[in-house]
Amino acid sequence: MLSKEKNEYITRVGTGTPMGNLMRQYWLPVMLSHEVPEPDCDPVRVMMLGEKLIGFRDTSGQVGLIADGCPHRGASLFFGRNEENGIRCVYHGWKFDRTGTCVDMPNEPADSMFKTKVRARTYPCVERIGVVWAYLGPRADPPPMPDLEVFDVPEDEVEVVAAMRDCNWLQGMEGDLDTCHVNFLHRGAIKAEDLTPGTEEFYMAAEKAPRYKYTETEYGAMYGAYRPAGPGELYWRVAQFLFPCFTHIPRNARQAVDTRLWVPMDDYHTMYYLLRRRPQNEPASNGRFVLSADTAIRKDNSTDWYGRFRLEASADNDYLIDRDKQRRMVSYTGMAGAWTEDHAITESMGPIMARESEHLGSSDVMLTRVRRRLIDAASALADDNTAPPGVDKPGVYRTRSASIILPADTDWLEGTAAMRTASPAGER
Ligand code: FES
Ligand SMILES: [Fe+2]
Repeated sequence: MLSKEKNEYITRVGTGTPMGNLMRQYWLPVMLSHEVPEPDCDPVRVMMLGEKLIGFRDTSGQVGLIADGCPHRGASLFFGRNEENGIRCVYHGWKFDRTGTCVDMPNEPADSMFKTKVRARTYPCVERIGVVWAYLGPRADPPPMPDLEVFDVPEDEVEVVAAMRDCNWLQGMEGDLDTCHVNFLHRGAIKAEDLTPGTEEFYMAAEKAPRYKYTETEYGAMYGAYRPAGPGELYWRVAQFLFPCFTHIPRNARQAVDTRLWVPMDDYHTMYYLLRRRPQNEPASNGRFVLSADTAIRKDNSTDWYGRFRLEASADNDYLIDRDKQRRMVSYTGMAGAWTEDHAITESMGPIMARESEHLGSSDVMLTRVRRRLIDAASALADDNTAPPGVDKPGVYRTRSASIILPADTDWLEGTAAMRTASPAGER
């Protein structure tokens, strides 16, 4: 449980909030490259950290991110003309390039110097693996990008998924740090006796109340959930939190390269990204943002601030729950799959869940600790301008989760170290 004040502190991300300022220290995904497919294409509305921004690709092919309101009189640059290396406001013709320089002010006399005094707010962008990343922070020289292993996955194996969630970012991310829900929400209909003894799935189904170890790391925090396996053995599932809103969750597949990111659009909406190497037994997804059969994208997605990457299964249709399938235990929830289940349940907690009325048990240790870590980092930034974890150490992001059976007397950090080690940069 968190006090009401602390819950506000940790969830609010608008301009000037401590947590918003923390988020702004990091490079974060802002849109997918294919949303701006070619030079001078249509601009895109993007909501990020409570700010209305317009994404566009200029004539040289570079992506720009500019504040929505024109510096002249506030008209939306979404309606602007994307032409010759800049975006031109259609109200009075002022034109800005992607660095924010006013390059034309045609409604002022030709000898006026006024245009040299006006700048638009813009943010630097880079593209990696089909994702546009932006730095919304205060440094004139942005910090390095996090050195995620997925950036080295070959183009034909990398998979990028985006989906919008109608709830606060922390709620979405806490689902990733809560391993024991998997046995209920996603696997509640699976019985141990139907699984092959000796497999990790079998041990998961056989013991639904694992115990936990926790440790802090340079990039954030990590837990190990352990339960009995064969005689004298334990099955460990290790997940990572990486500042400010990334996770690596345990995968049974070996060599899983998989980063999940919970990017706040504002206090009540989150853009979720999954960046991963596609497992060899899975077919390529269509259009790079559909993960599986239960993730249909809505037909009426739009150019609205909240119109992108919305899913068909939503609060409006009770996430397409099939009560008959739920009753017959075809699945625990009657929903189409894990993606929909996570989406439905985290949204069902409200736009910002009331953490002052929750009752956290021993299985929630990771949530408690990660909240404290976030609050401490945001306070240190606010109080002494202390750079938060990972900002200036891109290499610490080169890590994986783990899922492994170990002799019961093995230290969990030593026993999982090899599996948690990502391939070195540039070597895959
Ligand atoms: S409001 Fe944009 S040019 Fe006047
Ligand atoms: Fe889940």
